[in-house]
Amino acid sequence: MPDSLTALSHVTVSPDYHTLCERVADRIVELVLSKPDAVLGLATGATPKGVYQALIRRHQEQRLDFSRVTCFNLDEYYPMSPDSPHSYHSFMRENLFSSLEVRQWSVPGGEPRGPEQIERDCLAYEAAIREAGGIDLQLLGIGRTGHIGFNEPGSPRGSRTRLVTLDPVTRHDAAPDFGGMENVPTQAVTVGLATIFEARAIVLMASGKSKADIVRRALTGVVTEDVPASLLQNIDRVRYFLDSDAAERL
Ligand code: PGA
Repeated sequence: MPDSLTALSHVTVSPDYHTLCERVADRIVELVLSKPDAVLGLATGATPKGVYQALIRRHQEQRLDFSRVTCFNLDEYYPMSPDSPHSYHSFMRENLFSSLEVRQWSVPGGEPRGPEQIERDCLAYEAAIREAGGIDLQLLGIGRTGHIGFNEPGSPRGSRTRLVTLDPVTRHDAAPDFGGMENVPTQAVTVGLATIFEARAIVLMASGKSKADIVRRALTGVVTEDVPASLLQNIDRVRYFLDSDAAERL
């Protein structure tokens, strides 16, 4: 079967953002119930926020236990202090981990430091994922450039955790959060594509009309490093959760 047909057979379209988030939360809950010490790969951005709210609600209302779960986030701006309100450390603390107790959570380090130290820290992040047993479920958003994590167009499919340069489109999209594009960092540390592809399950979610074009290219277009999310077409363990706006061009 052509890759794009496989990808399309793995799409779930929800009528709205709320339903989309509940379905993705269902998938995570199903994993944690079957494997209470699961390792989750998590994402930041507007898209997964509703999933995190759903997980917190289920933890509070249904006493779902996450205390043995380990979480690794995909990326962090560079340079970026973990205490900055713009950091993905802060995002995860505010949106999930201040309300949900897990065994351990990690976000790649964005503190300014020399290239050799960055490389050592990236290797250590990869080693920590391996030592935890690898990622059971990797949650992904998708940027308008087709990035997953901060793997921008041109990222090698064999890439590992590393310092990268952000695409201007990505910086433009982040500008409102930073009060202007000139304040958005030009670099980031991201988990690599090869690391993402090793996850035992991958859930890519997208919401809204602004994602419809890149969703079409990623799921039905040419498989190319120029659209990093298109490389997921080669992986059978990927499930795409979209709302009807993001799916409108499929
Ligand atoms: P968003 O970002 O959820 O804020 O649209 C997605 C991404 O860049 O991965």
